[in-house]
Amino acid sequence: MRVLVAGATGVLGRRLVRHLSDGGHEAIGLTRDERGDGIIRELGGTPIRANLFDADEITSQIDSTDAIIHAATAIPKKQRPSGKDWEVNDRIRIRGVESLVEVARRTGAQHLIFQSIVWVARPDDQSPFDESAPLNPDSVTQSAATAERIATNASGEYGFTTTVIRGGWFYAPDAHHTLSFGDALRKRMLPVIGDGEARWSILHVDDAASAYAAAVEQRPEGIFHVVDDEPVKVGEFFRHFAERQGAKPPRSIPVWLARLLAGSFSTEFATTSFVTNANRFKETTGWRPAYPTFREGLDQVIDTWVSEGRL
Ligand SMILES: NC(=O)c1ccc[n+]([C@@H]2O[C@H](COP(=O)([O-])OP(=O)(O)OC[C@H]3O[C@@H](n4cnc5c(N)ncnc54)[C@H](OP(=O)(O)O)[C@@H]3O)[C@@H](O)[C@H]2O)c1
Repeated sequence: MRVLVAGATGVLGRRLVRHLSDGGHEAIGLTRDERGDGIIRELGGTPIRANLFDADEITSQIDSTDAIIHAATAIPKKQRPSGKDWEVNDRIRIRGVESLVEVARRTGAQHLIFQSIVWVARPDDQSPFDESAPLNPDSVTQSAATAERIATNASGEYGFTTTVIRGGWFYAPDAHHTLSFGDALRKRMLPVIGDGEARWSILHVDDAASAYAAAVEQRPEGIFHVVDDEPVKVGEFFRHFAERQGAKPPRSIPVWLARLLAGSFSTEFATTSFVTNANRFKETTGWRPAYPTFREGLDQVIDTWVSEGRL
């Protein structure tokens, strides 16, 4: 299959290009610069130099596709992102999906896959939820909810299948947040906020990529949660992460202090549970995570860092 990947040079996209080309598909990766061209070629894909927002620029270089994946992001990397920082990400979600719907229409794609996040449907009472839960976005996740709706409506309008994959919280040896959290834990500068009892459904990015590859091949219709098998308490994750790096356990700080130091967005995120499962995706596609819990996943992160000389 001929698969256009937007976000091909990102932490998820790089794995996707490799998965798809290893699986015998033609992976066309979108990038905006020469550095991206090299990354995509090295992974076995073919680069297209274009801006996500410019459907004309994209379709002037590719006239047919079977599937299109939106895996582009601009999740702010700052500790205290501003509203302006999130606006860029909002635009990538909303304008990005509108542009890719147009590319799908013009290139005859039969399948559009949009990357969303499970916490867009996190209930206010923080109880476990699944794909049947109503959307419950906040100011940061509203754009994911809007983009999900655009992608889903377009499938009815233009006759292609839309798959929305809502991922758990990503971690991987090369993911920006994993690298910065690992570094801060080694310096004992990343505290556990409050009691650390909030639970997250998380996902190693290798498993996210294998889920997208399964979705490309099986074209399941609808919304799917893709997470590992064991929601983890935030405090337990960071204590284990510190211990595996040979660091002292992280300190604990009260919520009010965290709000002052890290801002309200990071503090709310760290102290709010989102607990879900991937049962629907597993039953539909047969997909299983290679890293079923954070323990195996963090082992892989640490092994990779040791082999790279980072630890
Ligand atoms: N579920 C989750 O927890 C979740 C989901 C998504 C992301 N994240 C996190 O967010 C962080 C960033 O992810 P990442 O590493 O993939 O991001 P990244 O390295 O910044 O890559 C972003 C990708 O989006 C592309 N892109 C951005 N704007 C574009 C535009 N206007 N036109 C075309 N392409 C555009 C970039 O392409 P270029 O080659 O043109 O730069 C790049 O491929 C990571 O820490 C990741 O773990 C988490």
